[in-house]
Amino acid sequence: MERLQKIIQKAGIASRRKAEEMISAGRVTVNGVKVTELGSKAGPKDDILVDGKKVKRVDLAYFLLYKPEGYLSTTHDNFNRLTVMDLMPQEVSVFPVGRLDYNTSGLIIMTNDGEISHALTHPKFKLEKEYYVKVTGLLRKEETRDICNGIDLGDFFTQKAKITKVSYDDKKEHSFCNITITEGKYHQVKRMFEKFDHKVVKLKRVRYGVLDLKGLNKGEYRKLKIHEIKKLWNLSENGN
Ligand code: URA
Repeated sequence: MERLQKIIQKAGIASRRKAEEMISAGRVTVNGVKVTELGSKAGPKDDILVDGKKVKRVDLAYFLLYKPEGYLSTTHDNFNRLTVMDLMPQEVSVFPVGRLDYNTSGLIIMTNDGEISHALTHPKFKLEKEYYVKVTGLLRKEETRDICNGIDLGDFFTQKAKITKVSYDDKKEHSFCNITITEGKYHQVKRMFEKFDHKVVKLKRVRYGVLDLKGLNKGEYRKLKIHEIKKLWNLSENGN
């Protein structure tokens, strides 16, 4: 048995809050009987209608995918390029939570749960995202300090970031580091380093909240565990 608002939300009809409003407004029937009480539950065999239309039962699915470079994080591409959907099993209908650039690799969540996707990508939820970065040139202390304090990228000011594991290859003149940010603006990490004339030549998301890539090779995915999904919900509500 599951709460009606949850069933309606899972079917993609409305957010849980909107579903509650629909129930209270008398728009929902179970086996032909109008239900307005919010705690009401229904089982898999019950016939649920919203505004007279049948609610299709959908199971929520949550995956963690190790996206390789060379894949778009969209569900469809007009130019027929590879997308993250090409890496997922055919029978599940999921979509990526947020975006990684075409040439960025790393951790991306794939789900059919619109509510969690909305929560995780909402700017007010300060979920930590950690990236491994390789940039051209020598990263100077003053530059990493400025990046960590927040910098002006023209159209917005970045929030505080953390930079760890800084190293330099003096033969190839490349620097390496991990950067943790709590936002996800378009090309954000690339733009943060490019502000100091360091071109990002490799970018990989290694952590998303509590999740990392342990045990996965590029192109592989795994199902999220219940406790991981709960943890993500908590983080998206309370921040890291
Ligand atoms: N920042 C970027 O610049 N690109 C990504 O794909 C992710 C974060």
